[in-house]
Amino acid sequence: MAVLLSGRGSNYLALQDAVDDGRVPAEVVLVLSNQPGAQGLERAKERGVATKVVPHRGEPSRAAHERKVLAALEEAKVDWVCLAGYMRLLGRDFVEHYTERILNIHPSLLPSFPGLHVHEQVIEHGARVSGCTVHLVDAGLDSGPIVVQRSVSVLDDDTPETLAARVLEQEHLAYPEALVRLLGEPWRVEGRRIVFG
Ligand code: GAR
Repeated sequence: MAVLLSGRGSNYLALQDAVDDGRVPAEVVLVLSNQPGAQGLERAKERGVATKVVPHRGEPSRAAHERKVLAALEEAKVDWVCLAGYMRLLGRDFVEHYTERILNIHPSLLPSFPGLHVHEQVIEHGARVSGCTVHLVDAGLDSGPIVVQRSVSVLDDDTPETLAARVLEQEHLAYPEALVRLLGEPWRVEGRRIVFG
């Protein structure tokens, strides 16, 4: 599989750990970023994993950028694409190329609080529970069938930073858990639902 990221790469590391210790029966063959300076690229290099930068800046359109990303994924012959803090919306052509083979992790309990500045929105809204969601990617924003969710309580004195840190701990458990299920069990998509078994 390939991991696509734009930043820090802590979810990538959690996945890499789960692959390396045999929990997730897969291999990460490529870590790709649209951001040349992404810390996640360095983390991948330290783990001996191939990396590639495909900058979106300078491309005439989103489609043009995505064609280059797709070419890199095809060259690496990946079966699965894991988005881990990849801050780009994917177009229909991309998503259809890997139908039901692209995963994303989002730091809220979807369908609540899609998009950006999630933890600020959660606190401002007064939600008592938040969490994270691993889902299959479709052409919508943070939509697509849900594989795993993990929850945390929102505390009265939470700031976006403290809440983000507690949610991130759960993200690092949820992403491997989702892959263990998807790679290890039969499943199908029925409407919005993933049905296992
Ligand atoms: C994670 O919290 C992830 O859920 C979020 O970006 C962070 C990346 O952290 N993704 C999104 O908001 C996507 N909509 P990481 O680079 O340390 O994995």
